[in-house]
This record gives sequence, C-alpha cells and structure tokens, in this order.
Amino acid sequence: MVSEIAYGNWITHGSQVEEDAARACVEAALDAGVTTFDTADVYAQTRAESVLGRALAGQRREGLEIATKVYWPTGPGANDRGLSRKHIIESCHASLQRLKTDYVDLYQAHRYDAETPLEETLRAFDDLVRAGKVLYVGVSEWTSQQIADALRIAGEMGFDRIVSNQPQYSMLWRVIEGEIVPLCEKEGVGQIVWSPIAQGVLTGKYKPGEQPPAGSRATDPSGGNFIKVMLNDDLLTRVQQLKPVADDCGLSMAQLAIAWVLQNPNVSAAIIGATRPEQVKDNVAASGVKLDRDVLERIDGVLGETVISDPARTASPPTRP
Ligand SMILES: NC(=O)c1ccc[n+]([C@@H]2O[C@H](COP(=O)([O-])OP(=O)(O)OC[C@H]3O[C@@H](n4cnc5c(N)ncnc54)[C@H](OP(=O)(O)O)[C@@H]3O)[C@@H](O)[C@H]2O)c1
Repeated sequence: MVSEIAYGNWITHGSQVEEDAARACVEAALDAGVTTFDTADVYAQTRAESVLGRALAGQRREGLEIATKVYWPTGPGANDRGLSRKHIIESCHASLQRLKTDYVDLYQAHRYDAETPLEETLRAFDDLVRAGKVLYVGVSEWTSQQIADALRIAGEMGFDRIVSNQPQYSMLWRVIEGEIVPLCEKEGVGQIVWSPIAQGVLTGKYKPGEQPPAGSRATDPSGGNFIKVMLNDDLLTRVQQLKPVADDCGLSMAQLAIAWVLQNPNVSAAIIGATRPEQVKDNVAASGVKLDRDVLERIDGVLGETVISDPARTASPPTRP
C-alpha cells in the first residue's frame, strides 16, 4: 500500500531549497498523512537522499514507504551508472546509508538500460529482495514492451515481479494511456506518477507574456532547464482557462491537476514536489476528490491539441548516459 499522495524531492532537497525548508515540507507531508516518499540516488548528486534520510529520522519505519531509484550516473566511472549487477548492488548499499535505513520499500530502475541484459538486472533486483534490502521492485519510464518482457522473464525465472511503474503523467502528458496502462491493469502493476502539476505549470502561476515568479522552479538554475519546454504562451494561455474550471469545483488549480491524475484507476499515487509547506497543504487536499465527467470534458476542451498522448514519447536513452 502507498499513500495516494506521495512526496518526492527531485530538484528541491539538496539543491533548490535549504535543509530547513526541506524538513518543513517533509513534516507537512507527514502531518497530512503522506506515508510514501520518493527519491533517487542521482538527485542533487546524491544529496537529496541524505536530506530525506535526516528529515525522516526518528519516524516509525513501519509507518513509511521509502522509494528510491538507480540508473542515472552517480560518479565518473563506466560502472557508476546503468542497471548492471555491479552498479545496482553498489548503488543500493550507498542509498541505504544515505537514507539511514536497513531496507527500501520500493527500488526502481530509473530508466531502461539497453546495454545490460534484462535478465542480469532482474536477477540483481531479486537478489536484493532476497537479502531483505529491497522489499518491492519497480521501474520508471519503461515502455509497455519493456515492462511485458520484465514480467515474462520474472515468471520464467521465478524472480520477484515488478509491482509499479513511475511515469510522467498529467493533464498535459498522457502518453501512458494508450499502451502502458492497459498492460499494467491486466498485470496488476500500479502507476506512481510524477510531475502531476507539470512542475508547477498547472497551478497557473506562470502567466503568458510575463516573467516567471521569483523563487519558482523556472528561475532555478537547474530546475529551469526542465520546465522551460512548457513555458510557451499558447500553453500558458490555455492553462489560465482552467482557473474557472477549478473554481467551479471549489478546488485550487494544483488540486484540480492532482485530482485529475488520481481519477485513473491504474494510478496508485501521485508524487508531488514542493518548495514550501503551504504547497504540500494545498496539494494533499486533492486526495479523494471525484471529478465529474463534464469537468474532465471541459479540461479536454481547454487543453485541446497541447495534450501529448503519443506512446512513443516513453523512452530511455539508447545507450547509458
Ligand atoms: N522517475 C522520474 O524520472 C521522475 C522525474 C521527475 C520527477 N520524479 C518524481 O516526482 C516528484 C515530483 O516531481 P515534480 O517536483 O516535478 O512534481 P510537481 O508536483 O509537478 O511539481 C512540483 C513543483 O511545483 C511547484 N508547486 C508545487 N505545489 C504548488 C502549489 N500548490 N502552488 C504553486 N506551486 C507549486 C513547486 O516548485 P516551485 O515552488 O519551485 O515553483 C514544486 O517543487 C519528484 O520529486 C520525484 O520524486 C520522477
């Protein structure tokens, strides 16, 4: 079980925000009933895991689900990346130390590694499960074919099956709906989705023709690179038109966006990011909200052809990064 709203610390912990702001956000999440926390070895060059480990220290371990990931480079060497047995085992041990825990609840392949035989990757994950260092295994941004292959090999070899996929999913980015969700529904794999408010864009705070607000992700030297592709006037104008839809539902725009991803029955959790505790409080209120069909239709009408749905947009680097 995971909490419907999960808290993630990409770009924020160890990078965009100071440690006290990070702790305040984690406390706000815990106070609101969030029990699932998502990070990765690569976030802030490994610092994000350390910040989260300190922020969660003293919590009842049984009351938390801690998820982390492996794949992107964490050092200069050829084996500091990817999904080889060597890197998976080494990176998992380093993550456990930084997170100050004996095991992670969910260990995720952060992309697909075309340079490692899939069987080697799955066997290394399975070894970690058997050693009690990882309780469940998941993937992130794998294609439906890659997920199907992993499930087939796990069945043939008796390996632990993957239980979750972590894809990007929002009103604007729906690429999992065509192939991945139907497969995962059939196979009992849940989606733990990232960037449900499109990194802040769906809050409506980025206005067409205006500079981004001070202190927002768009003004952050590293975060700005990830969000800038969405900061065009057509998209931002349409997002402003979602405000009356949110108002009519009695929701903030962030709540509308998070509630939207949670309407998909294959979505187990939405991972929210935050730079301040007020955002956490705003966002967690999306839990349990039911959106009527006419609301969903109004959203589709506003966003029109800006919505991206092509399944081919799910992709990992062709070679190790
Ligand atoms: N698997 C992957 O490849 C992958 C990739 C990306 C993310 N993730 C996971 O998903 C998590 C969430 O991603 P994300 O941070 O992009 O998610 P997001 O929830 O779409 O965006 C979060 C950002 O939006 C702004 N924000 C949040 N709530 C707000 C509110 N109520 N009002 C105004 N602004 C608000 C904050 O940035 P500012 O205050 O700075 O504007 C916050 O840091 C990550 O931490 C990570 O765990 C995974």
